[in-house]
Amino acid sequence: MSKKYLTTAIPYVNGTPHLGHAIDYLLADVYSRYESALGNEVKFQTGTDEHGNKIFEKAKSANLPVEEYTKTNSDLFRDFIKKLGVSPTDFIRTTDAAHKHRVQLIWQRLEQHIYAKDYEGWYCNGCENFITEKEYADNNGVCPDHQTPYIKLSEKNYYLKISDFKPKIKAAIESDELKILPEFRKHEVLKLLADSPDVSISRPKKNLSWGIEVPGDPSQVIYVWLDALSNYITILGYPETEHSPEFTDFWPAAVQFVGKDILRFHAIIWPAILLALNLPLPRVLHSHGHVLLNGAKMSKSLGNTIDPLEVLEKYGLPAFRYYFLRHIDTFADSDFTWEKYDAAYNNELANDLGNLVQRLATLCSKNSVAPVSAPSFPEVVIENPDYSALMEKLEFSNAFDYVWEKVKSVNKKIDDEKPWSLIKTDPAAGVASLSSLVASLLEAAVLLSPFLPETSEKIIKIFTAEKIVAPEPLFPKALKA
Ligand code: MSP
Repeated sequence: MSKKYLTTAIPYVNGTPHLGHAIDYLLADVYSRYESALGNEVKFQTGTDEHGNKIFEKAKSANLPVEEYTKTNSDLFRDFIKKLGVSPTDFIRTTDAAHKHRVQLIWQRLEQHIYAKDYEGWYCNGCENFITEKEYADNNGVCPDHQTPYIKLSEKNYYLKISDFKPKIKAAIESDELKILPEFRKHEVLKLLADSPDVSISRPKKNLSWGIEVPGDPSQVIYVWLDALSNYITILGYPETEHSPEFTDFWPAAVQFVGKDILRFHAIIWPAILLALNLPLPRVLHSHGHVLLNGAKMSKSLGNTIDPLEVLEKYGLPAFRYYFLRHIDTFADSDFTWEKYDAAYNNELANDLGNLVQRLATLCSKNSVAPVSAPSFPEVVIENPDYSALMEKLEFSNAFDYVWEKVKSVNKKIDDEKPWSLIKTDPAAGVASLSSLVASLLEAAVLLSPFLPETSEKIIKIFTAEKIVAPEPLFPKALKA
């Protein structure tokens, strides 16, 4: 048994959760369930990123004290995670007193790599990011993700000397000591790293009041990204726990899940912070694509979000997890449309799987077929090396496709073997065919468990119960063909 630490990005609380936010959680959840089912101990962090100007401005325009505004939205994220069937072991808010204190301690440990300088240049409030002249020119002065003009800043800031760590970060990425997935993003990151200037890690308090104060300089506030990235270790009690198992058992993280838009912060600033603290780098940075709506990234700033609760309510949780884990590619951008969602539910979940379970359970019940015991997850994983290879490569939508092929092959087998007619001419062969079909379906159900835990459990229960009985339809809201 080994210990695995998985993390997700922590969303800004400048609005309520949207569909795009579900991706980090679902991917980490699949991996967490996979590792746990193999017998490993998983620590799974999530949380909310609560400081910075854009959140402060939102609270102001909502006419709410910022503490109340952030708490309300943070609670909505916490509820959302639960509604997705995702069970993290830890949830952090960057406004937690312990986190704030630890970020200040981290700052003090970084001090020999920090210097002060006047900054004059561009900033994107949406990204909470400093923009180089080149990026400004390439994007014609407008952030492509947020569609808002960059703003001009002229202020004193503290800088972290990325230059002290560039060669080490480059070597770690090139050698896969810090593995970037998907592979093609590695080259993008290396290019960004080569061009990366030192990064500003503070803002004057007069321009950013809602944040953690820089130790020893009350006129400055710690830049939100330094504050937010630190959550991955402050949640483990760092720095107080740096020599205790609470920290050393879990750091470095096995996998950090982030969206492609924030990979640059995780692949440049975050490794620089860790190296400055003399800490090992995470093993894998997994960057997923975006959920698109009509070809554009779904985002609060663009105002083109869909309420995930409406999507959840339409057909329930398994349908939601099915669509977002199989039809939203793990690495590439993918569209959400209601048409595609309906089709996936009706033609695949309800038809391929729901009808199969119904049909097979009815046949078994009519012919008194004895229940079959379900294999264990580790057993099934050994018997399906292609599945485990995809899971180990963290290619979850491909692994889900693999499981679905199994489901389809059981459908094909039932149509080919026609046990309902076989049983009339050769009852023993008919029952044997049904038992073997049940065994194949159970194998698929076990492989399905990291993706659709609820459905997997239901199927296993039906076919391993004392007596197999035809169940209520698994996906009752399906449209009749
Ligand atoms: N607060 C930062 C993250 C700090 S992590 C130390 C942030 N927040 S966010 O709310 O903008 O994004 C949170 C996560 O949701 C990121 O991984 C981001 O990529 C993901 N997504 C936001 N919109 C998305 C889509 N439309 N599609 C898929 N994921 C997207 O960045």
